[in-house]
Amino acid sequence: MSKTDRRPHVIVLGNEKGGSGKSTTAMHLVVSLLHDGHRVGSIDLDARQGSLTRYFENRRKTAAEMLVPLPLPQHVPILRSQADSAAVAQREDETKMAQALQELDACDYIVIDTPGADTSLSRLGHTLADTLITPVNDSFLDLDLLGRIDTDGAKILKPSVYAEMVWEQRKTRAIYGGKPIDWIVIRNRLSSLDAKNKRDIGQLLELLAKRVGFRLAPGFTERVIFRELFPRGLTLLDLSRKDSGVAWRMSHVAARQEVRDLIDAIGLKPATTRMNEAEAHVAAAEPAA
Ligand SMILES: Nc1ncnc2c1ncn2[C@@H]1O[C@H](COP(=O)(O)OP(=O)(O)O)[C@@H](O)[C@H]1O
Ligand SMILES: [Mg+2]
Repeated sequence: MSKTDRRPHVIVLGNEKGGSGKSTTAMHLVVSLLHDGHRVGSIDLDARQGSLTRYFENRRKTAAEMLVPLPLPQHVPILRSQADSAAVAQREDETKMAQALQELDACDYIVIDTPGADTSLSRLGHTLADTLITPVNDSFLDLDLLGRIDTDGAKILKPSVYAEMVWEQRKTRAIYGGKPIDWIVIRNRLSSLDAKNKRDIGQLLELLAKRVGFRLAPGFTERVIFRELFPRGLTLLDLSRKDSGVAWRMSHVAARQEVRDLIDAIGLKPATTRMNEAEAHVAAAEPAA
């Protein structure tokens, strides 16, 4: 999607659950957009944990040590207000957020990482989303945060806490005349084993998508490459650099394709170069790593 309006496109990573892959997805989206030549801003609303913030610190150090410029976003961490009064805390959070948005106003995209908990800062982040991406692991426990599932695991009884929270933020956004949030759920850490569970979860997600109001997009397989480069602030999208010091493997090609597929599904830009058939064949034959 080419940008026609001047306002940055805001992508929020959200899920009221830690460990589902929000920060990992945020890092990969930011670096992918940077490599495509976009001006990217990022906001860490989980600044207490600070995964995204530390990732960019590591990236800056690596760039300095390698003496090569690695593209970096304009990054703003926001710690939530510690004020005793909820009203004062909310005002302080809103002010910090408004300042961050002003700072990042010249960007094409702003990627916002949120904590795995329902905080007023996280809610505020959700109201800003043009695109909301919720990574879920392939487990009934994760799905339960989107919709209450009946005891035999085959029916959705009602939307759950997180879905209701998103619904509230959609309403708030509508009141202020914002475009509707495009809510995308992706499956993360997909296992190449356990085909039955994968199918069951897939069917349930289709039901949830209709009931709760999101769309599904391709996610990420469980792969070491999605986590091993964190200490150096790199992603597999930096691997083509001959000086990255990581041996190139075909599973990296497949992983990179997963990131591209997500970007394409978000609709941020037209489909990019596809993995050619020979590469895809080797990648499929190789175990995920
Ligand atoms: N696709 C993946 N393959 C392998 N490890 C992953 C993948 N996605 C996330 N992880 C790992 O899972 C853990 C939780 O991911 P993280 O992005 O920190 O989740 P969140 O931000 O939602 O708490 C981290 O250790 C991360 O490295
Ligand atoms: Mg995180």
